[in-house]
Amino acid sequence: MKGLGLGTPTYVKNAKLIAWVADMVALCKPSAIEWCDGSDAEYQRLCQKLVDAGVFTRLNPAKRPNSFLACSDPTDVARVEDRTYICSATQDQAGPTNNWVAPAEMRATLQPLFDGCMQGRTMYVVPFSMGPMGSPIAHIGVELSDSPYVAVNMKIMTRMGQAVYDVLGLDGEFVPCVHTVGVPLQPGQADMKWPCNPTKYIVHYPETREIWSFGSGYGGNALLGKKCFALRIASNMGLQAVQGDGTGWLAEHMLILGVTNPQGKKYHVAAAFPSACGKTNFAMMVPPQGFEGWKVTTVGDDIAWIKPQADGTLRAINPEAGYFGVAPGTNQLTNPNCMASLHQDVIFTNVALTDDGDVWWEGMGEAPAHCIDWQGKDWTPEIAKATGVKAAHGNARFTVAATNNPALDPAWDDPRGVKIDAFVFGGRRSNTVPLVMQGRNWVEGVYMAATMGSETTAAIVGQEGVVRRDPFAMIAFCGYHMSDYFQHWLNMGESLAAAAKTSGTKLPAIFTTNWFRKGADGKFVWPGYGENMRVLKWMIDRVEGNAQGVDHAFGVSPAYEEINWAGLNFTPAQFEAATRMDAGQWRAELKLHEALFTQLAHHLPQALVVNKAKLEARLAG
Ligand code: GTP
Ligand code: SPV
Ligand code: MN
Repeated sequence: MKGLGLGTPTYVKNAKLIAWVADMVALCKPSAIEWCDGSDAEYQRLCQKLVDAGVFTRLNPAKRPNSFLACSDPTDVARVEDRTYICSATQDQAGPTNNWVAPAEMRATLQPLFDGCMQGRTMYVVPFSMGPMGSPIAHIGVELSDSPYVAVNMKIMTRMGQAVYDVLGLDGEFVPCVHTVGVPLQPGQADMKWPCNPTKYIVHYPETREIWSFGSGYGGNALLGKKCFALRIASNMGLQAVQGDGTGWLAEHMLILGVTNPQGKKYHVAAAFPSACGKTNFAMMVPPQGFEGWKVTTVGDDIAWIKPQADGTLRAINPEAGYFGVAPGTNQLTNPNCMASLHQDVIFTNVALTDDGDVWWEGMGEAPAHCIDWQGKDWTPEIAKATGVKAAHGNARFTVAATNNPALDPAWDDPRGVKIDAFVFGGRRSNTVPLVMQGRNWVEGVYMAATMGSETTAAIVGQEGVVRRDPFAMIAFCGYHMSDYFQHWLNMGESLAAAAKTSGTKLPAIFTTNWFRKGADGKFVWPGYGENMRVLKWMIDRVEGNAQGVDHAFGVSPAYEEINWAGLNFTPAQFEAATRMDAGQWRAELKLHEALFTQLAHHLPQALVVNKAKLEARLAG
């Protein structure tokens, strides 16, 4: 049978790309190919195609101009960590926290799955840049996908389109990403509303820097520039760069924000919180009453690429161009900048549709008397009360361009990135972990990040609300051995310290936070959201040497008087409830650190073992 012509546009000149597309067409056997140019006209056309196919509902243009709602299959609603693989040459390179299968064996498994997987569908060729187009820190990927939903989401989430081919030129490098929903269509066969396959594989080959994704159309499983490339493959690239020019870099699950004080001095903070634990909110925070003259601006809300500079500083960029953010809990009070970002040009996934053609989710505000829930069923507050059924899925999300954000940092697109003054690591813990602490030095900070625990959320398929270790909020995103990753951070600290000595710069401070401690009544003891500004200011004070803090077994925490409480009635007793350190709880916590260290023992840096012994001694004494 004669193969499908590629129809390669004349502006595509990269020989490796053309050959790879030809190979993938031969393997996946789509019925058509579309080379995406990233234009607005193309976006509109694909959105209309999704409307015509019943995948998208166009929202009421008077309420949400140029916005759409997609509702996924109930079996395809979040990342599938148990189906995610790091197929490095050896299992030891992937480490004990990643699923691993030998590359040859995985290729043999995937071959029959991908053979003919796009039959009856269009293959979209989606070229994208992670980072500003053409910048020396950016990297290019090309995603081949049989999902038009993926193509339009990639347009928002990345710098996508024709200009990427100019950067690629004849022989530029790109990360090949193949994605299929895994539902080939026979002639005349009707499509599923949200095609997906019960069998799912999210596969990374770090040596050859390839990504293969089968069976899911949702979020990080399918938008391959995000977790697969910008975290799992990029973390590998950052490690391998050590062998290259000796420095290496970091790909992190971090927001980046700018914070400017009333005197006009600006700082940048990068914060790693696990999935659905407050990155988007912190990155878009509006300073509360009592913080007149302070300003917070967003560089990024999910991923940071961080590079050491010759002077011992770190500079960070956000490789993405949009936000794929959690809808539930977002409202005018918790995140006004986010709500303002969502006025137009948004793709919503798995939220509810109101009777006037708008969207609603739990925690958005007053519930409508009636709406259609994310599964297409009638929903009323009475039904919810009787059955507990949610109008929006817990991991319902919006896709929106960064440029929609009124708090967007002027440097968000700057290829030089921004200088990082502090790192924050924050889990979701109902107990044990206090509101904020600072490591006394780099090693102590790395230890706290490495041993961070967090309750799982709806962002992951599986059990919700279970405490697990989530080192650096990277448990699901580090593309190599977690112990080697700890070592990479420690090495980075040492080389920064050496460079800082000669240039007189300072290493970033390292903090941990917990916005999520609960009281005996089951309610959060800390008001959170914009009020987190109070903690952020204390961090800045620490960076400037303006807050002494209280020294304890695990680091330094604020005294009540060191926090600016203007505009908030928060008593010393409430503060005590948010910050108390219970020795018994911490002894139990250290057992969990121990279990992690046992799991990671093989390459575990000795410095962390030594630090743990010191903590134990302090706790005992
Ligand atoms: P990913 O996109 O999954 O990586 O998540 P994220 O870290 O960006 O999470 P996001 O900021 O979207 O927050 C997820 C949930 O946490 C939302 O339901 C928020 O309402 C809630 N949340 C965010 N900040 C706070 C806070 O300070 N306190 C409390 N109690 N909840 C918060
Ligand atoms: C996360 O789960 O951390 C996300 C959402 O940011 S997804 O892109 O689906 O991975
Ligand atoms: Mn994330």
